[in-house]
Amino acid sequence: MGHSATPAAAFATLGLTKPAAVEIPQIIFTAKEMDFLEWKGDILAVAVTEKDMKRDSNFENSILKRLDDKLGGLLAEASKEEDFNGKVGQSTVLRLPGLGFKRLGLFGLGSPSSTVTAYRGIGEAVAGVAKAAQASKAAICLASSDLMPKEFKLNSASAIVSGTMLGMYEDIRFKSESKKSLLKTVDVIGFGSGPEVDQKLKYATSVCAGVIFGKELVNAPANVITPGVLAEEASKIAALYSLVISATILNEDQCKELKMGSYLGVAAASSNPPHFIHLCYRPPNGDVKRKLAIVGKGLTFDSGGYNIKTGPGCSIELMKVDMGGAAAAFGAAKALGQLKPSGVEVHFIVASCENMISGTGMRPGDIVTASNGKTIEVNNTDAEGRLTLADALVYACSQGIEKVVDLATLTGACVVALGPSIAGIFSPSDDLAKEIATASEVTGEKFWRMPLDESYWESMKSGVADMVNTGGRQGGSITAALFLKQFVDEKVQWLHIDMAGPVWNEKKRAATGFGVSTLVEWVLNNSS
Ligand code: BES
Ligand code: MN
Ligand code: ZN
Repeated sequence: MGHSATPAAAFATLGLTKPAAVEIPQIIFTAKEMDFLEWKGDILAVAVTEKDMKRDSNFENSILKRLDDKLGGLLAEASKEEDFNGKVGQSTVLRLPGLGFKRLGLFGLGSPSSTVTAYRGIGEAVAGVAKAAQASKAAICLASSDLMPKEFKLNSASAIVSGTMLGMYEDIRFKSESKKSLLKTVDVIGFGSGPEVDQKLKYATSVCAGVIFGKELVNAPANVITPGVLAEEASKIAALYSLVISATILNEDQCKELKMGSYLGVAAASSNPPHFIHLCYRPPNGDVKRKLAIVGKGLTFDSGGYNIKTGPGCSIELMKVDMGGAAAAFGAAKALGQLKPSGVEVHFIVASCENMISGTGMRPGDIVTASNGKTIEVNNTDAEGRLTLADALVYACSQGIEKVVDLATLTGACVVALGPSIAGIFSPSDDLAKEIATASEVTGEKFWRMPLDESYWESMKSGVADMVNTGGRQGGSITAALFLKQFVDEKVQWLHIDMAGPVWNEKKRAATGFGVSTLVEWVLNNSS
């Protein structure tokens, strides 16, 4: 296990900012089968469809009818007055004296065949109410769960748990004052009980731990997360799950030996040295049937370099998010370290550095040479992500893998094409594209397949080198993907995810943890 991150340099932070060591609140989720009227605690949340809310003189739904009877018609009255009819996103909370629970909440699911997103929304809404009411004990049940197929019950229970856990989470590491979260237990009633549900809920909480880790990496500013600190964070994951994960960190000299000229060209201007990070997950019982790689873009800051990000909408101040691909990879590594799937080996690879400006930096027009020998005329220093990914992909393909997925906040063009919440996927492999699409159906993360049309390679030709690093403004996310393709071994199935849009939630002013859940699902589907 090579290990050469330099802690002294790694933790020297500009502006004296240090993230506070806050513990992520541990909420215990338990699947139960019980009569909800017997339940005791702070909030009983009932998820209802529009159909459940139908009534003549009384509710047709048996659970709502029983509740309404118990409350002497208050439920019917309140839902009528508040115009609550079970639509997605609606909720209403009643404060009740003399019952086993202090509050009763109704949360709208919309249609009976609701998606994972609607169930996750229920969890988030319950978290919102629990925070406001300072609840420590909550329960969530469905008004009509009897008719649901078992598989659907399991998936909706896990979506509710994820929604609640992520809804309760607040990144308070950089706030000097904050409220403590009080929620301790959440009972999930009516989704079945026993080892199968317990397993599913454990899966959901592990994925959430990975998502939260990913969010924290992206939220942390570039003066806190330097390439050295990112390497330290990855090493911590390996130390925590040392039974299954090992770490190799290459320093600048080691990358030079591997001839990673493209990556090192980007790193050259920064006084924070580059760190090439390689985590490897191996299953506990050794037997490996599939070998995969996940490559993440790890620019801890992207100023643009000499092609500095200026002008309206360039969002230079947001460019701490440019390691969102790396965060997704390491978030997935954390979750997989907990879940320990068998039969699959996974390499997590990040060529981390900072794109800065200085006398030692790369100039527009310079020619760099990647580790597969190909030469690149850098006609724009702001197209730096692809230069780092080039060497990371060559390295990944040398690990004897069958499939590689890379994730990168690669182009503004992809955000223009698909908007802020959908990631673009690019792949010559229909099979691999299908695998990611299948995984995303379970996780609810949004992807859209884009064309990888070879005819656009024309604009990437150079007069003096093998290629340039940017073709014009048109089809910018496609030419970027075509560039990456030059560095992938033809025997390896490859898929590229451009997540420049979904890495960040502008409304919440926070990272999303995008990619983690879909990656974990993909790896588990490849396990045996
Ligand atoms: N990191 C940016 C892409 C980006 C944009 C990430 C918005 C997150 C939000 C990337 O390195 C970049 O600068 N891309 C250029 C490419 C261009 C020079 C061909 C872009 O999109 O403008
Ligand atoms: Mn850039
Ligand atoms: Zn970038």
